[in-house]
Amino acid sequence: MQSTAHTTNTTQGFDNASHHPITVRRPEFNFAQLPKYYFNNNPLLSHLLTALSLTFPNGERFFVHSVRNVRDQVKTATLKSDVSAFIGQEAMHSHAHEDFNDFAKRIGLDVQPIIDSEYEKVEQIKGVLTPKQQLAVTCALEHFTAIIAQYLLEHDDFHKQLHPDAAHLWMWHALEETEHKAVAFDVYREVFNDEVVRKRTMRIITTTFISRISYITGKLLLNDKEGRLQFKQHWLAFQQLKVMAKTLLPAYLDYYKNDFHPNQHDSNAIANEWRGVLFAS
Ligand SMILES: [Fe+2]
Ligand SMILES: [Fe+2]
Repeated sequence: MQSTAHTTNTTQGFDNASHHPITVRRPEFNFAQLPKYYFNNNPLLSHLLTALSLTFPNGERFFVHSVRNVRDQVKTATLKSDVSAFIGQEAMHSHAHEDFNDFAKRIGLDVQPIIDSEYEKVEQIKGVLTPKQQLAVTCALEHFTAIIAQYLLEHDDFHKQLHPDAAHLWMWHALEETEHKAVAFDVYREVFNDEVVRKRTMRIITTTFISRISYITGKLLLNDKEGRLQFKQHWLAFQQLKVMAKTLLPAYLDYYKNDFHPNQHDSNAIANEWRGVLFAS
């Protein structure tokens, strides 16, 4: 993979016809040999990825729930089949990250209370928000996952810093997030098409998502006697995250444009490259 800038097609149009069919895959993972600091021997970066992983199984089940809520109202045939594939991919991600989260338990991190608390939060959201608001939450979080995923696919320095067994999981997940990034958005647009709620929800989700992931990462670091005092590693991690955040900011802000669509961020070429890397037999 060449290290390239985040590719963004800033033209108004985009080509839905070139959209690659969404494939549900069931890769096998093995985390038995995974070292504690699987991300460049860096405690903070490793715990940050683990924090994301801890939110995924319940979070992605919620994404599926929010799309299922309204799938009967989807009329477009291609979108209906994309919805089925979206549900299949997210279900596989949930299972894979449950296995990954077991690795976090094995290395002694106290992650079960975090997983339980994620479950309770999701159940609260399901009880309080309307189906439109729930789907808007999914669209906002899918935008975050899509732009982060594209960054990971396009920047060689990410996967090269990961232990190969962790890279296998994260690059597979990143690829599939780019493949299905428009599905929840297209369902929202077809069923509700409420731009005010879509953008307002993103503002709320931005605050809650960043603060929640920071909180969980901090909790994991505090729980790790060996890693929490490695201040030089923390500083290096912050430098890396600063570059990433600066690169991603324009793609994040695109979500607030009136004519925004996820496919305006062209990820076809990089996704093709990674399909070759991960699934060429
Ligand atoms: Fe996913
Ligand atoms: Fe997703």
